Amino acid sequence: MNRFLTASALALTMGAFAPAVVPAAALAQEQTVEVLHWWTAGSEAAAVGVLKDDLAKKGVAWQDMPVAGGGGEAANTALKARVAAGNPPTAAQLLGMTVREWAGEGLLGDLTAEAETQGWGDVLPTAIKDFAVEDGKWVAVPVNIHRPNWLWVNAKIFKDNGLTPPKTWEEFNTVADALKAKGITPLAHGGQPWQDTTVFDDVVLGVGGPDFYRKAIIELDEESLTSDTMVKVFDQMRRIRGYVDPGFSGRDWNLATGMLIRGEAAMQLMGDWAKGELVKANVTPGEEILCLTAPGTEGAFLFNTDFFAMFDVGDAQKAAQASFAESVMAKDFQESFNLVKGSIPARTDVSGDKFDACGKKSMADIKAAEGAKTLMGSLAHGHAQPAAIQRAIFDVVTQHFNSEMSSQDAVKALLASVQAAQ
Ligand code: BGC
Repeated sequence: MNRFLTASALALTMGAFAPAVVPAAALAQEQTVEVLHWWTAGSEAAAVGVLKDDLAKKGVAWQDMPVAGGGGEAANTALKARVAAGNPPTAAQLLGMTVREWAGEGLLGDLTAEAETQGWGDVLPTAIKDFAVEDGKWVAVPVNIHRPNWLWVNAKIFKDNGLTPPKTWEEFNTVADALKAKGITPLAHGGQPWQDTTVFDDVVLGVGGPDFYRKAIIELDEESLTSDTMVKVFDQMRRIRGYVDPGFSGRDWNLATGMLIRGEAAMQLMGDWAKGELVKANVTPGEEILCLTAPGTEGAFLFNTDFFAMFDVGDAQKAAQASFAESVMAKDFQESFNLVKGSIPARTDVSGDKFDACGKKSMADIKAAEGAKTLMGSLAHGHAQPAAIQRAIFDVVTQHFNSEMSSQDAVKALLASVQAAQ
């Protein structure tokens, strides 16, 4: 060291290496969370904005790690690569089954202390809490409840053509045939495995009923998987294939919602993240675009929840992670976030007053379904089976949808694929 350095120059030089003494408020400003998520559509990005702004108020900055791809499969692959490289993000968006898988690996942070002081356990439906708590430890926070079994209907097209929105699959086929005969695309759809399976979930539930969905999809009961009912499910999938436009392959879900809004297609079978796109486009859900439960599924509620889980990125990040979790679970935040996202709050104590007719219906229906034991996790959206089995079912559903495969062969392939993945 230069022995002619003055004491103050020495202090300055050392300052470059020593921790700076700064006021607590300024320190808080330096906290940053890197968040991996798949919210890249317009309404999803707007919802991210609500969370980002809320955190900014707490002095936590948001470092964005978006991975495009509805349903989150690509995001989960990216997350696996980050974890394998020893560089996990601070927090990641996960669906219920992947919360369990990551928790099983012992990689998720413990949020039990925050859960206890803030009383999270008292304000969440049991079905949601079950995914957030692993071995008695809180490992994730739920930001919403989405309902995948919705049918979105362009009211003007139906009115102009003297049609009534369908309540059963039979009615659906009748209106779809009538629309097709008039040269109108009945169904806006994007041919991606998770979207095909979102439709499949609706058909299994609508054709077979809640008990059949539970047995076939949640319990993987062999008899149900190979039953005549499952053959009928694939028959209905084949009918649906005839109701989509020639450009459906690979289309993103939000582009399909755009077709519905512009009247280029009459209906869409999609979760209520589609409602987020309606709101973003200043279209009134329940008026210009109607929300009906998917054909044959009234009384049952398929759900999926977006959770955020914290990864171990060192003690220095723990305070930021706690702030993040606290934000997600705050009552006001759950209201403002879900008004934008299209979902309903995960917290049961948020008032529905500010929600549109579809949001209010969702809130009432989930309570009724809880009571009737018809509240069940969505397969397409990670709440019915672990990823390997989910993927095995995606493969068969998509292969059947895009080929001439018979329903009988599809049922055989379904069982074989599920068994191979188990
Ligand atoms: C997520 C939603 C998301 C949708 C489309 C679902 O699995 O739960 O939050 O908007 O996928 O990306």
